Amino acid sequence: MKSLNSRCTYQRGFLVALWLAIAATAYAAESRVALKDAFKEHFLIGTAVNRNMVTGGPGFRRSAEQNAEDAALVKEQFNQITAENDVKWALIHPREGKDGYEFGAADAFVNFGLSNQMHVVGHTLVWHSQTPNWVFAGTNPPPTNVAAGVAVNTNTPATNQFRRGRFGDGFSGGLGRYNGPRASREELLRRMREHIHTVVGRYKGKVKSWDVVNEAIADGGGTNILRNSLWLEIIGPDFIAKAFQYAHEADPDAILRYNDYGLENPTKRKKLFALIKSLQAQKVPIHAIGSQAHVNVSISFEAMDQTLTEIATLGLPIHITELDVNSAAAGQRGFGADIANNAAKTQGGLVSDADKKLTDAYAGIFRAFLNNRESVKMVTFWGANDANSWRANGKPLLFDGNSQPKPAFDAVIAEAKKRAVAK
Ligand code: G3I
Repeated sequence: MKSLNSRCTYQRGFLVALWLAIAATAYAAESRVALKDAFKEHFLIGTAVNRNMVTGGPGFRRSAEQNAEDAALVKEQFNQITAENDVKWALIHPREGKDGYEFGAADAFVNFGLSNQMHVVGHTLVWHSQTPNWVFAGTNPPPTNVAAGVAVNTNTPATNQFRRGRFGDGFSGGLGRYNGPRASREELLRRMREHIHTVVGRYKGKVKSWDVVNEAIADGGGTNILRNSLWLEIIGPDFIAKAFQYAHEADPDAILRYNDYGLENPTKRKKLFALIKSLQAQKVPIHAIGSQAHVNVSISFEAMDQTLTEIATLGLPIHITELDVNSAAAGQRGFGADIANNAAKTQGGLVSDADKKLTDAYAGIFRAFLNNRESVKMVTFWGANDANSWRANGKPLLFDGNSQPKPAFDAVIAEAKKRAVAK
């Protein structure tokens, strides 16, 4: 009898504890402010999403339950989404020809955004990375110095050197640069036009903004504005103008962006200015600057504010396209995001006092966004929570791996409230 009683008491205690836990979770979710609401008067707040968040089920690194929780977080907090990978050439158009497209995952992504009333962004149409080799292949022999691994028209060492690393996956941005016989300029332009017309045309009116050209500017202090790439070598510098022209033909209402990283660096910013002014002088249909903002905890309010104030003088809206703040000790040297150099920057431990530094960095960054709210129209995080981040080791986002808000989340919300009071 005693043991039955104690079992009942134990079960009652367990049920009460369970109820309290459920109630606490529900309370936390219900009472939690949403980023999209806190900033609704200023800019859209978005996130990159991966395939399993929108298709459900288990996936790379996450269980089915975790993917469902991640999707719930996306719906709760964000009013804009970007596909982290599924619209890249290698995934949406892996083989040559009309039958070479794989639209399943991209369709699921677009439908997820539309059914949740989100602004949907397409990433990306023309990039030196994640483009299958067939795109560049043809019958023209490659220049001999390129085949030998020495890039013609190079900028600084390593600008266009792809090493085998975490992201080495068999495409031109992964295992190494394609060195076989090449397409002619006309052939490559035809392929580019067909790709852009097909992809942009399929989502016309649904995908509202496109990263038309991604990361075409050279890193470092060399004199070349453009990164050495097969697009540049085969077509010439007007590959950028052509890509924008084709995208505009395919959807004249879409917002077309040039997207790059490291614009917090004044040297890279100078190159951005040269490129964009030249496109503007040619009347190329470019409608926004995408600044990726893969920064680290050493970023200051002043550096971000200066970056945005200067970019705004180009007269185009600014979209922050891939925001994250690296806390990994090895990631504190710069603001690069070249995938070839990423792996090393996410290894090792965190900086000391990482949570506080992350909180302070995010507060400063959002103060700068709000300070430039006339030009900043969209802020997209590169991942919804730390578990999904491309640099998960650096714990760079506002939500931890269990989608719980970190102190940096509160700091960002506090900046929105301060601005609302100051208005
Ligand atoms: O999904 C497969 C999985 O099935 C497989 O088991 C695993 C084995 O390595 O790979 C998984 O795919 C990886 C994918 O990320 C999903 O995590 C690819 O190998 C990997 O190449 C891919 O990396 C992406 C990278 O771009 C290259 O395209 C990152 O997720 C993505 O965050 C990153 O995003 C870029 C932006 O597009 C442009 N700006 C810089 C930014 C960061 O590098």
